[in-house]
Order: sequence, then structure tokens, then C-alpha cells
Amino acid sequence: MYTLLCFAGLSALLQIAHAQVTCSGSFASITAEDFVANLHPGWNLGNTLDAIPDEGSWNNAPVQAATLDLIKESGFNSVRLPVTWTHHFTGGSPDWTVDPAWLQRVSDVLDLITSRGLYAIVDVHHDSWEWADVTAAGADLAQIEEKFYRLWYQIGTTLACKSSLVAFESINEPPANTAEDGAEINKLNSIFLQAIADAGGFNSQRVVNLVGGGQDSIKTSQWFEVPEGITNPWAIQFHYYSPYDFIFSAWGKTIWGSDDDKDILTTDFELIRNNFTDVPLILGEYDASSVNTEPAARWKYFDHIQRVASQFGISTIMWDNGADHLDRTTGQWRDPTTLDIVVGTTENTANSLPDSTEDASAAEQQSSAFIFHQVGTDVTSQSLPYLFNGNSLVSITESDGSVLASGSDYSVSGSNIIFSTAYLATKYTASSAPGVIDTLTLQFSGGAASPTIQIVQWDTPVLSSTSASASAVSGSDLSIPITWNGLPKLATVKALTNSGVYLFDDWTQWLGPLQQARATYSNHWNWDTNNVIITAASIDAVVAAGQTSVFTFEFYPRVDGGGNTVEFTLTV
Ligand SMILES: *[C@@H]1O[C@H](CO)[C@@H](O)[C@H](O)[C@H]1NC(C)=O
Repeated sequence: MYTLLCFAGLSALLQIAHAQVTCSGSFASITAEDFVANLHPGWNLGNTLDAIPDEGSWNNAPVQAATLDLIKESGFNSVRLPVTWTHHFTGGSPDWTVDPAWLQRVSDVLDLITSRGLYAIVDVHHDSWEWADVTAAGADLAQIEEKFYRLWYQIGTTLACKSSLVAFESINEPPANTAEDGAEINKLNSIFLQAIADAGGFNSQRVVNLVGGGQDSIKTSQWFEVPEGITNPWAIQFHYYSPYDFIFSAWGKTIWGSDDDKDILTTDFELIRNNFTDVPLILGEYDASSVNTEPAARWKYFDHIQRVASQFGISTIMWDNGADHLDRTTGQWRDPTTLDIVVGTTENTANSLPDSTEDASAAEQQSSAFIFHQVGTDVTSQSLPYLFNGNSLVSITESDGSVLASGSDYSVSGSNIIFSTAYLATKYTASSAPGVIDTLTLQFSGGAASPTIQIVQWDTPVLSSTSASASAVSGSDLSIPITWNGLPKLATVKALTNSGVYLFDDWTQWLGPLQQARATYSNHWNWDTNNVIITAASIDAVVAAGQTSVFTFEFYPRVDGGGNTVEFTLTV
């Protein structure tokens, strides 16, 4: 009750100064259930209007209409538009005026989305870990509430007359560590509702997305409370990036897809569904990037997440930071198989997918998303285990459109696709130059996916140098030029001091041989077109350890015995 009184007082105060918007035309009312059902599948226009400080500040150019055409053509029904407002306030307390040009830009981008018949969800995004972080040391909750009300009042005013294709989402991933924090997020949901109602227009009929602490399924289940007196049609939005190690390439976790892996994901979704049996649920962000995850594992992951979301009636909106999935510059999907799975899979879809190692304790990783051939070895037939899932293989096509001959180029035996020696000899010899030779596309009699197989000739990569002085290179990332000699990406990196101490996370000694002593993508290691990268944080760790350390770069295929790895030493 205290909460409600306090916040009613706030709105009464602010309402005095502001008139409500009146819209011409009418609003086609829609229930939250229909809105949520209709928006699936959705796509996030990530790292764009949410970039800090401004649109264009991160890895994407300002929004192009052509990108939204592609999203529509690709089969999506909605776009979530994350917006960070922090750097667009032109005044402080008590008005917290937002730059009208920025409000107009958000309005214009929403129009680009909805004019294509796409549903849209607009939010308050990275503000949650800037000024609106209720968990920050010394956080001034009264000021956060005042600013949050004023922000949503201004957004609500600018967007008051948007059609019912537009929904508002209170706040993205608000940090919350305790039940008190969770209660404060509930209060922010209420303030958000009051602010948009005070702004007027069609807002009182508009679908809203409410969130719980962290916008994660567990904290939302624990702490979310329905705002008292809510009259808007409403849904809950949550996000899911789990398991962390697979999604973020931590600790050598390049394998996913065991029954245990699937059961954990199923249970996570089941728990939030069971907590909110009659509330429309939106999975507003999830991802397994085509940049850093292994394709067979990734496709199993997307397949399972879509099947489980469908089973529990949860609509999905995939995250795309602009580097993960759609290349907005070329208009190409980096991984068309992922797109097919995301757009086309329900609980009743049987996708045919490449089989791959699922046992996290394995010593090497097999993947039927590839035909790997090592330089210097004989050309022999290759048998790829495949998960047909009740479908039959209809055709295999090379990237230039040539169709392989069934029976001579390949055959199907049980659950294997066997590529003949004669066919593979047309693609490579023992001495062919290493690299990606071709990409085959498989067509099946059913399912949403037409998975690819990359033919890769590989040899051990070569670094341009193999050591450096840690203190001499500290302070920034160290880029080491590489000749890839195969698939041009890293699988993982092992980091050990000369005396065998794990540089990071020594508990990984309890994991399988492909994970022990492995460091984390982006935090500790990375790569670009021509380099592997040891991050400044890793170099600092070596300096702090005071021990010469060896970084072992690992590539696909992850074969037993280190045959596809190279070492780099940082000396102290
Ligand atoms: C609600 O969610 C919590 C946290 O995930 C879980 O412990 C609990 O079992 C869930 N309740 C139901 C009825 O599923």
C-alpha cells in the first residue's frame, strides 16, 4: 500500500503540469494474448538505437528501411526496438526533458517497422544499468522513480497515437539481487503504467510488456507481482541466455545437445510457464551467435528452444547485435540454417539436423556440419552421422548450384550420409591448399531446415610470432597475425602458467579434456579476419601471476591430442 500511495502522489504532482494527448482516428484494440501470438517470430534491432551514446555508435549504421524489408521477407512478424535514453536527456530534475529530436527518431523508426505490418515493442534499454540501476551503491530511488516517470511520460506522449501494433516494455533487464530490489522493479512497472496513462492518447488500451528482476525467468518467477489496478492488456517478457558457457564460449564449452542439456532448458521454460499459467509470455531475447558457436550444436539449440517455446505457448524474439545473424550491409543471413529453424519450427516440426558430439567429457568433437580433411592425408569416403528425424534426404547442392548424384557422389546408409571417395576427390587432394572449399546445402522431405555442410581442408594454423613479453604488450589487446589453414575461427583458448597453474577458473579441472583450463571468449581471447587476439585482461592476468604463461589456441576440428592447436608464450 505504501508503494501505491507514494506513487499516486508522484503522478498527481506531475500531472498538474501536463495535458493528455488526444488522438484523431481510432485504435484497433487487441488482447495481449493475440498480440503475443501474432508477434512470433520476432527479431531484435540490437546495438542500434540502444547503442551508447547514440545510434551508430556501436557496430551498426543508423537504421535503414531496407533492413526492415529483409526482416519481413525473411518471415519475421515483429521487431523489438531497444532504445537507450541516457544520453538524450537535455535537462535534469524535475522535468528530465528528453531531446525532441531523439523522441522523433524513435517515432520514425517505429513507423518504419509498423508500416510493413510488423508488430513493434519499444523499451527503455541500457538505462537499466546506467541511471536506473536500483542495485547501485547509494542509488537514489526517489530520483530514479522521478526520472523514470518523466521519461515514460514523454515517450508515452510522443507515441500516444501509434497503432495497436506498438507495445511498450517498461525496462530492459533491470538489475535486482534481493527481494527488495525485485519489489522496486515492480514499482517501476507501476510508475511506467501511470506515466503512459497520464500521457493519454491510445496508451490506456495499448499492450504493455512488464518485467521482473533481471528480466530472467527465475527472478521474475520469484519476485514479480501484478501491478495493482492494471487495466492495460499485459504480457511478461523474459530473456534467456543459457547455458552461459555455451552461449558465450566460456571454458571450452563448444558442445551442446545432450538429453541433460535439453532437459535443463525445457525445465527452465516449464517453471516460468507454471508460475504464470494465464499470462502471455514473450521470450524477448535469446541467442546463440553464428560467430562463436559450433554450427551443429547451435542448430540443435535453436531447434530445441523453438520446440519448447512452442510447447509452452511462448513467443520468441531473437537477439541480433548486427554481427550475429543478419549482415545489414550485404543483406545476407550469416547462417541461413539458423534463420530457417527460428522462423519455421514449432513443437510439431521434425527438423533433420547434423549429429555431433553431445558428451561434454569427450576428448574430441565430431560435427556433421563439416567434412574435414587434413592436408597430407589420403582422400577417403566420409560418413557423417545425421539426425534424420523421420525425413528422407532429397538432394545435396553445391554452392554453385550443381546437384550431387545420389548413389555415386553420396549415399544414405542407416543414419549416415556417406560421401564417396570419388566425389571428395573432385573437391580436394592430399595436397590441396587449406581453407573452406565449398558449402553444400541439404534438402529433406520435411522440416523447416536445409542445413549446410562445409567442406574444409585443414592443416595446423601458423602464427606470425610465438612469444612476447607480457609487460611490453600490456595495456591493450595483443593481435597476433595468423595463417588459418582451415576454418578461420577459434574454438577456444587454453591458458596455463609455465608451472601448470590455470590462469583462469581453476575449477575447470573438474570438466572434460576439451574444457580444462580454457578461458572465455571476448573477456580473455578473440579473433578477427587476420589475427588471433589475447585480450588486455589476459595479459594483466599473466603480469599479476608473475609467471611466463602459454596460450594454446584451438581450432575446428577439435581433434584429440592437440593436432589442431598452436601455442603462444607470454614471458615475464
Ligand atoms: C516458479 O519459479 C521458481 C523459480 O524458477 C521455481 O522454483 C518454482 O518451482 C516455480 N513454480 C512452479 C509452480 O513451477
